[in-house]
Amino acid sequence: MKPRTAILISGRGSNMAALIAAARDPAFPARIDLVLSNRPDAAGLRAARLAGIRAEAVDHRDFGPDRAAHEAAIDTMLQTANIEIVCLAGYMRLLTPLLVQAWQGRMLNIHPSLLPSFPGLHTHARALQAGVKLHGCTVHLVTQETDAGPILAQAAVPVLPADTEDDLAQRVLRQEHAIYPAALAAFATGKPVGSPDPEACLTNPPAWGTA
Ligand code: GAR
Repeated sequence: MKPRTAILISGRGSNMAALIAAARDPAFPARIDLVLSNRPDAAGLRAARLAGIRAEAVDHRDFGPDRAAHEAAIDTMLQTANIEIVCLAGYMRLLTPLLVQAWQGRMLNIHPSLLPSFPGLHTHARALQAGVKLHGCTVHLVTQETDAGPILAQAAVPVLPADTEDDLAQRVLRQEHAIYPAALAAFATGKPVGSPDPEACLTNPPAWGTA
């Protein structure tokens, strides 16, 4: 049985769209059932609905400073939809222990750098500033420490001498759209991806849909 997957977004949703497109292939081993955004105006919500996926906003502003209450509302929606895997895709909120613990080992994130380099924000500007010659993106499991969970997949791109921040962002984004579906597929089937040491990644195919 394919694991029921939700995608959390905050904006444009191009990684979300890549996951939805990949999951249209009957051979893809996960299904996308739900898209949630903390911002009602996120362009990705509309794109998801156009693709026939249920997409809803849980506006963080409705909860004031109570971050845990916002996450509890999200968690309730995920549980009610019987979600088994959560993919963060440009979800620009720091998570509290509530959501991290509820989804430990079942929540993936894509980050626009080769972690552990450049966790946090403004990764492309910081890569240019640092003068690195290779940059890229990472899919990792979410743990309480931001952008520090076990790495599932990475892709590297060259940093060219004349690159602007936008050039680099575009080059990395193309790779994000390739590795996130690949990482989700591998995760859903329990296969290792992106690691030279298969034992370092998932080794036991999970039994989705049996809970
Ligand atoms: C992507 O580049 C993603 O890696 C990044 O935000 C962008 C979202 O674009 N995520 C983070 O920076 C998370 N810390 P998208 O909405 O078009 O997928």
